[in-house]
Amino acid sequence: MSKVSKKKDRAPRADGTRTGATRTDARAADGPGTDTRTDDGARPATTAGVSRRRLIGGAGAAGAAGLVLGAAGGAGGYAATRDDPPAALTTIGSTEVMFHGKHQPGITTPLQARGHLVAFDLASGAGRRGAAALMRRWSALAERLMAGRTAGGGAGHDTGVALDAGPSSLTVTFGFGRSFFERTDLVDRRPAGLDPLPPFSSDHLDAGRSEGDLWVQIGSDDSLVAFHALRALQKEAGEAARVRWQMNGFNRTPGATARPMTTRNLMGQVDGTNNPEPGESDFDRRIFVPSGGPAAHAWLEGGSYAVVRRIRMLLDDWEKLPVGRQEQVIGRRKADGAPLSGGTGTTPMDLDKTGADGKPLIPANAHARISSPEKNGGAAMLRRPFSYHDGLLDDGSPDAGLLFICWQADPFRGFVPVQRKLDRGDALSPFIRHEASGLFAVPGGAAPGEYVGQRLLEA
Ligand code: HEM
Repeated sequence: MSKVSKKKDRAPRADGTRTGATRTDARAADGPGTDTRTDDGARPATTAGVSRRRLIGGAGAAGAAGLVLGAAGGAGGYAATRDDPPAALTTIGSTEVMFHGKHQPGITTPLQARGHLVAFDLASGAGRRGAAALMRRWSALAERLMAGRTAGGGAGHDTGVALDAGPSSLTVTFGFGRSFFERTDLVDRRPAGLDPLPPFSSDHLDAGRSEGDLWVQIGSDDSLVAFHALRALQKEAGEAARVRWQMNGFNRTPGATARPMTTRNLMGQVDGTNNPEPGESDFDRRIFVPSGGPAAHAWLEGGSYAVVRRIRMLLDDWEKLPVGRQEQVIGRRKADGAPLSGGTGTTPMDLDKTGADGKPLIPANAHARISSPEKNGGAAMLRRPFSYHDGLLDDGSPDAGLLFICWQADPFRGFVPVQRKLDRGDALSPFIRHEASGLFAVPGGAAPGEYVGQRLLEA
């Protein structure tokens, strides 16, 4: 009975999420940088009723099962047998993102509060067969975890870290690096979009923290849920693949602001204002690989390319700049992200507008001017980053910055021309350092019964 009502409550939504209550429709249209989960954060208007219903339903299902099993076999027995996700008290916990779909989750999904990026290298000898088996196992696991279920696999297999939490908008996204195609003997099916990125003069790249055969992006609004997924996926790799590098990031916690807002980065800027939005007519064409390409690359239809750059911010230098100078560097106001040409955060930049001195109000070397599609032959990408902070470096400066992730249908028409231009004259360059880089082809979403990458690995 509770299962039926739960299903009814949790019909999939247009943005691939389902939830008992308050995620607004505007959220999908606002794109991943905007937190439109609730208007009043702490006590969303409809949460109380839903929570109550969930608590009542939950007590009958997971709650009662927990009590019985707890008495019989302790928490281990509960963890091993529970199959229903617990009924989370808030929409943050109860929001579920669909694993299956045309596109993989974690691309247009609203930015989550916690993220892990992990690259794996296939074991020598794993080959195409080993890669296929791994992707099958990983996909099944990701589907379970995203539904808020345990990792499965019998008693003691699940670590129990996420036991009390709902799905919490967990997403798991898989990508293939250039070297994956050599390891699996599939070079003839490798798209040109995976050609190596050109070097940029400002690169200070650490090869050990760059590229990789496989890439996994994990996002969740709960840190324990994200960590749980990370461990489970690492363990599931078994002997087939080993971790090459891992990065941990974060964004603002949903509901932390009085109203829905685009997130800020660690320099304090509103970051993500001028992202392409899923509602726009050319969004799909810019972000997802279309059908009708060469037959050898049909496996990538509905997929995308992720460029991942670990960009350290030289915060000690940045924070010495007066706010007015900081705003000139970006071309937008710090307080609300409005362009220096005037208006509010949603006003388009007027790149031609000049001040009393005849100079452009948005300086010639401002980051937002140089990177704008208008100045790059329409080149556009969906930026969906996480911030990171890994403590202090030997010189005492913060090891902190942006795990910059951008999504596009073709990286050589998205990231590459824009980064080339930024490399030549971005006012932000003296304050940042690109330390690691990865380029991954992210297959389209798996249909029910299918695993991610099956169309490549089994064709
Ligand atoms: C730590 C490094 C970076 C920081 C702090 C940063 C920050 C910002 C900020 C504050 C904005 C203005 C608000 C917005 O529209 O989001 C912006 C815009 C933008 N940035 Fe960056 N950015 C960084 C790196 C990059 C890189 C590496 C690229 C691509 C190669 C890039 C591409 C863009 C684009 C395309 C826009 C939108 C321009 C427009 O259409 O108005 N950014 N960035």
